Amino acid sequence: MGIVFNSTANTITLHTRNTSYQMKIGNLDYLLHLYYGSSICDADMSYQIMQYDRGFSGNPYESRNERTFSLDAQPQEFSTQQQGDFRTPSIEIVNGDGSYSFHGKAAAHKITKGKYKLDTLPSTFDTEADTADTLEVTLLDAVTNIEVALLYSVFEEADIITRAVRVKNLGNAPVHLKKIMSVCLDFLNGAGMDLVSLPGRYGQERQVERQHMTHHIHTIGSVRGSSSHQQNPFVVLCDRDATEDYGKCYGFSLVYSGNFLAEIELDQYDQLRLVMGIHPKQFVYELKPGEVFEGPEVVMAFTEHGFTGLSHLYHDFYRTNLCKSKFVTEVKRPVLINSWEAAFMDFDDVKLVNIAKAAKNMGVDLLVMDDGWFGKRDDDNSGLGDWFVNEDKIRCGLHKLVEQINALDMKFGIWFEPEMVSEDSDLYRAHPDWAMQIPGRPAVRSRNQLALDMSRKDVQDYLIEKVTAILDGADIYYVKWDINRSLTDIWSNELPGERQGEVYHRCLLGLYRVMDEIITTHPDILFEGCSGGGGRYDPAMLHYYPQYWVSDNNNPIDRLKLHYGTSFVYPTCTMGAHISDSGKFIPLETKAVVAMCGTFGYELDATHLSKKQQNICRKQSSLFRKYYHITFKGDYYRLTNPFEPGNMTAWMHVTKNKKEALLSVVVTNLTCNGPQEYIKAKGLKPDALYRVNGGDEVHSGAALMNAGLPIPREVPEYSAFQFHLTTTR
Ligand code: DGJ
Repeated sequence: MGIVFNSTANTITLHTRNTSYQMKIGNLDYLLHLYYGSSICDADMSYQIMQYDRGFSGNPYESRNERTFSLDAQPQEFSTQQQGDFRTPSIEIVNGDGSYSFHGKAAAHKITKGKYKLDTLPSTFDTEADTADTLEVTLLDAVTNIEVALLYSVFEEADIITRAVRVKNLGNAPVHLKKIMSVCLDFLNGAGMDLVSLPGRYGQERQVERQHMTHHIHTIGSVRGSSSHQQNPFVVLCDRDATEDYGKCYGFSLVYSGNFLAEIELDQYDQLRLVMGIHPKQFVYELKPGEVFEGPEVVMAFTEHGFTGLSHLYHDFYRTNLCKSKFVTEVKRPVLINSWEAAFMDFDDVKLVNIAKAAKNMGVDLLVMDDGWFGKRDDDNSGLGDWFVNEDKIRCGLHKLVEQINALDMKFGIWFEPEMVSEDSDLYRAHPDWAMQIPGRPAVRSRNQLALDMSRKDVQDYLIEKVTAILDGADIYYVKWDINRSLTDIWSNELPGERQGEVYHRCLLGLYRVMDEIITTHPDILFEGCSGGGGRYDPAMLHYYPQYWVSDNNNPIDRLKLHYGTSFVYPTCTMGAHISDSGKFIPLETKAVVAMCGTFGYELDATHLSKKQQNICRKQSSLFRKYYHITFKGDYYRLTNPFEPGNMTAWMHVTKNKKEALLSVVVTNLTCNGPQEYIKAKGLKPDALYRVNGGDEVHSGAALMNAGLPIPREVPEYSAFQFHLTTTR
């Protein structure tokens, strides 16, 4: 059992293969946090808790004249408000009488087999190979009868612990939740820790930033209505000297696609607190008596093996425990060609068929018809919401178009942006109240479009019906689900004024319902998420879609950083990556090496490629298929850091049995008469012999890892190399 209750010490310990997490029902039934880190077997970590009389720190009334117990200095599992802890709270609640306080005491706990399931939100699941155990600890405020259930699931084999929270109003007056964090983790000694996050912007998502923790509250979050291009719901707390390969790293990955917040506070005593959950900005949720609110899941991992060790834990877990699509396990991803950068919205059925014919010569399996096929949509000022085929463009009708593509022995995919509406659309003319607009104020436009109020059931039902009709009207194999603006003018006509603080979250619940319904009824369709590139690349989306478009930026040199940053938490098999015309002077071969770090495909007008170029592409497509079992199932290693000065960027994938690897290198800078460069491999078996690219060159794993492979110098600018390593026996 991964969870042990020690009734003598009153501790509960969660055990994974290499880590332990311990809490204690302590003094006066407060739930204290004792430890998270490398395995401590059955140790009782209560001795870690020290108590002093700290000036200006309050003491619970029940401790009478005892001044040494203050929640301001004690490590807690769930920090509260108005209990003498002046650090970052996990909950802010306004009670029925108007008071702001939650005095939660541990009232009960239970340990069960299997993973908890969230009723309203996407979450990870356990598998037969790694069944989870679950702990639920209930904190009860005996005055208001508000109950907070802390949920923990332990995945022993995967070295992962997930957390979530449920608030239940057992009282007899409505209360208002203003803040509810899914995780609270207190470190007794947090001085000397660093915070790593993935900030970015449109076209440059998930770059990597690292900062020292100082004595204030560091925040990472989004208030854009989505997880955003600008930040990602993932943070790492690590040793100051942690590197790719060494050092303690704690990861926190939130399974949520909306406004989120991570607060990291280094306090006056060098204790460090992290809380993470839904962003409290413009969040006020009413809970009537008997009602329950669920907070999203946080996936936590700990390793002593640096960022690579941490990434491997997340990659493995997210490859097996997040998305049930058959494209994760049984069916290989196709090589696709997307019409966007080939034609934008200027296409018709004939043009698409011609692109498909040319793409066929390139070894492409699937044609994706991107934006522009529906309603009146010749530019981005109109048409969103009208999910019926524009027969001025697709003159033969969708069914016939798909038949023509299928006749080439290719599959067909289609683009949607369901959550949005253009003012110039039949949908808006019929239902202006479905768009989010604050009464009496013109709404902020972005890409000249408005956002639909996804919290409304009628909006959800309309989208399910329209999208389903298209998917069932032709042989659709793939869907790209896009969203191209951030949310503003948060307002739902369905809710009274005093409940508008629920709209952000309710919109997300509505979106999840729509996606769940469409995906469940179409298990054979491959879904790819997109938000103006990678603006909503998060685990909640990856619960529904096995892949996500990394960025609208297809420049292969920029992509090196994009893939590097994204790989900190998300496996490379989730990364939508294409070869396009972007990067004019960069060889097609280099673009392919970069795109093979993801799902691989093309985004260009194939009819403009020469026969010679098409042949090159055909070889690339077959290489992608040849290396699929390595790049989609293997361990990924970042060999260089593209954010640091250097002449090349390198990475590699190694199969789990270490018999095969693919080491990829892009020369980003050619120095005149410079030194010979060597790239050191990782993850190989030191004593195995590896043949390089099927030729006569053979080296031991130890040589490849300790001395490295020489990278040819006299090469054209932006050359790239792939070294396929196979064990000789
Ligand atoms: C943004 C996406 O990232 C692009 O790939 C493309 O689908 C456009 N939207 C279409 O409007």
